[in-house]
Amino acid sequence: KIIVLDFGSQYNQLITRRLRDFGVYSELLSHKITVDEIKQINPKGIIFSGGPNSVYDEGAFKVDPEIFKLGIPILGICYGMQLMAYDLGGKVENANNSEYGRADIEVVDDDAVLFKGLPKKQYVWMSHGDLVTQAPAGFTVTATSKNCPISAIADNERKFYGIQFHAEVRNSEYGLDILRRFAFDVCGAKDNWTMDDFIDLQVEHIRKEVGDKKVILGLSGGVDSSVTAVLIHKAIDDQLTCIFVDHGLLRKNEADQVMKALNKDLGVNIVKVDAADRFLGKLAGVTDPEQKRKIIGKEFIEVFNEEAKKIPDADFLAQGTLYTDVIESGTDTAQTIKSHHNVGGLPKKLGFKLIEPLRKLFKDETRELGEKLGIPHELVWRQPFPGPGLGIRVIGEITPEKLEIVRESDAILREEIKKAGLDEKIWQYFTVLPGIRSVGVMGDGRTYDYAVAIRAVTSIDGMTADFAKIPWDVLQKISVRIVNEVDHVNRILYDVTSKPPSTIEYE
Ligand code: XMP
Repeated sequence: KIIVLDFGSQYNQLITRRLRDFGVYSELLSHKITVDEIKQINPKGIIFSGGPNSVYDEGAFKVDPEIFKLGIPILGICYGMQLMAYDLGGKVENANNSEYGRADIEVVDDDAVLFKGLPKKQYVWMSHGDLVTQAPAGFTVTATSKNCPISAIADNERKFYGIQFHAEVRNSEYGLDILRRFAFDVCGAKDNWTMDDFIDLQVEHIRKEVGDKKVILGLSGGVDSSVTAVLIHKAIDDQLTCIFVDHGLLRKNEADQVMKALNKDLGVNIVKVDAADRFLGKLAGVTDPEQKRKIIGKEFIEVFNEEAKKIPDADFLAQGTLYTDVIESGTDTAQTIKSHHNVGGLPKKLGFKLIEPLRKLFKDETRELGEKLGIPHELVWRQPFPGPGLGIRVIGEITPEKLEIVRESDAILREEIKKAGLDEKIWQYFTVLPGIRSVGVMGDGRTYDYAVAIRAVTSIDGMTADFAKIPWDVLQKISVRIVNEVDHVNRILYDVTSKPPSTIEYE
């Protein structure tokens, strides 16, 4: 295992990610970690991430200097290199011009282990205000560049290395090779970390933590909660009860699919609550989007609580929180970007102890884990679906008739997108009922019916998105089918806005 200490760089999780891609287990940990904690973890190597500070800043993120006496190899990246140099008696100064972007470096030491076998001249990605102007005693300079004469340093004796550039980003030509050399050649790490190891570790951990107590989990049918459910079920069987609230705002066949895959085929204990009437009753006459969201969220918590109370000795609440959720919700170094919102936003203070076995995983790792656990491919690769469901895809007041139109048209859209082989290429695709009615002609008669909008976007993380360019003939097929097969629809619209300025959903 190699640990990465977080000094606040926007690339900090990327370093962890790269190492795991090499098959070396890695975790991002706070720079506040104590030397004793590190001894307990007993890592093969430590990486100091970059960060926004200058070592001279008041409140700059620091690390216990005892770390340098542990005898564990250390690689400092950017700020991490400056901190190491500073702590070990080198000199760090403000660069007259901060450097940002591509830079050409030259390796000047034939024995530089991080650059072994790599071209002497290579380009890297720099992003810094300060730089090391004098290497500490014991170090040699291993690479230089025009604006940063000390681009890399090495102390082979103590196995301390520093690079001023960001090896973890793709804009560094041989960045991954450099990280590999640190992990394998310097630290002697093995590329033996697999998802099976993760499963075994977690199963053991969950058993130990839960003992003979009971766990409940709010199942949404989404990837994260489904994978969490199956993993915990593997560990403790029927000590886990999942509560699956069907709020009547799910997609066509969705509830059945979830029940079949998880309950019937994999044996997960699921209590399905049919609360459609209850939700629709509360939503009747409500048109304001935020109010709709609030009602759905609040009702969800109430239904969940009522069911949870029926399960005696439930001490634990399991959640499908992922690594990115943890990071977005704020760490020691990062500002809170957004508060993590789960299914309907279960409040933390329900009196349960939390278990979050996916806390260390990225989304794609979660999917890999899901497949390993035997969850069907379709469920594991499901497109994102918001907690309030179809409730925010019927614009304005929600009625059973309008829900039916969205549900049926959405099912047709999904079927045709899949047939066209586009289902894993488009981030999200769904239909919306904007509530517009317009004049049409069908047979010989005039109609005055609803328009259905198709929303399809490509995206990496949902934060920004571009509209998907679905081929015309596929759109045409979808259009013809929806108009013919769904009652009260006489017009299909295609949304061609990106995010920003739009959002992906409509409400
Ligand atoms: P927007 O509409 O903000 O959506 O561009 C970005 C992504 O978030 C999903 N989304 C939600 N997911 N609960 C969720 O779990 C919600 O309340 C919610 N609202 C939006 C949306 O589907 C898209 O993937």
